[in-house]
Amino acid sequence: MKRSHESFQSHTVSPDDMEMDFENNITTPEYVPEDAEVENPLRPRTLREYIGQEKAKENLSIFIEAAKIRRESLDHVLLYGPPGLGKTTLAAIIANEMGVNIRITSGPAIEKPGDLAALLTNLNPGDVLFIDEIHRLSRSVEEILYPAMEDFAIDIITGKGQMAASYHLPLPRFTLIGATTRAGQLSAPLRDRFGVILRLEMYTPEELARIVTRSAGILELEIDPDAALEVASRSRGTPRIANRLLKRVRDFALVMNDGRVSLEVAQIALERQEIDELGLDKTDRRLLKTMIDFYNGGPVGLETIAAAVGEEAVTIEDVYEPYLMQIGFLARTPRGRCVTPAGYLHLGLKPPRAAHVPEQQTLY
Ligand code: ADE
Repeated sequence: MKRSHESFQSHTVSPDDMEMDFENNITTPEYVPEDAEVENPLRPRTLREYIGQEKAKENLSIFIEAAKIRRESLDHVLLYGPPGLGKTTLAAIIANEMGVNIRITSGPAIEKPGDLAALLTNLNPGDVLFIDEIHRLSRSVEEILYPAMEDFAIDIITGKGQMAASYHLPLPRFTLIGATTRAGQLSAPLRDRFGVILRLEMYTPEELARIVTRSAGILELEIDPDAALEVASRSRGTPRIANRLLKRVRDFALVMNDGRVSLEVAQIALERQEIDELGLDKTDRRLLKTMIDFYNGGPVGLETIAAAVGEEAVTIEDVYEPYLMQIGFLARTPRGRCVTPAGYLHLGLKPPRAAHVPEQQTLY
């Protein structure tokens, strides 16, 4: 195994520093720096305040309580699911509930084994190290992580040739929380070292309406229940989008309605942002329309779609597809992506007579 000989550099990033390769788009579920302002005071701090993800929450509360009774650190936790569902929020809640500190970083930010070693050796017993986008860790960094997770120790080598020296560094017992949008891309050895694996699901409109109402309360914003449900229904199952839309709706309410968010104000605000009743934005519609106009609704390969709409394939896969598949407008088949009849109808188009997607071929 090749070892890094480079000097150690400590470096932690806040979410604000994280690499962004998406357009600054109001329906992007990815974190954008503008979210810090609206998201931070709105973030729930305890499991009790956290709305939705009932299954994950129930399990977590047991594991947290058991770890506290045993006076041990919590087992390592892997959170996976589409972006914007509250993985970072949940990690911060876990640390808060355990009464420990959290250090936040991300896979691409840890460039060298030394970066990770610096982070690990600075932890206090029980602390949480949160690594977002953990599937993007380099192989050499991952190899340091295995013994750190398993034995709470790392072996590092400094110097070169005759000057080389090997050190065995014991680490405090810490909890690694990894987050990924792509559990499938995680190497098996890394996945196997997590004691708790939790999948986060998209939120129902009712859950999102509760989140919108809670957020409005914190922002001291008056919102009618039907308006909260309207914002929720157009937020593509994602709290981050719901809170972002609420912020825009609040501006319209202030200018048009003395600050109160009524259903009418919410609808006008969302239409002006070109977000339709199902939360689809311009890019979603362009994607479906391109597939229909140029590829007869599919099957068409991801790279071809990406080139045709001018977006990166990973952006389409991580950001646009999950929701379009969730609402049944897009299907993945072994031969490529297809627009479903429901997708045609939503765009006001007549679906072709032949069914595009034989049921047994659908791969979700
Ligand atoms: N804000 C963002 N996500 C939330 C959640 N799951 N519960 C409550 N408030 C939130």
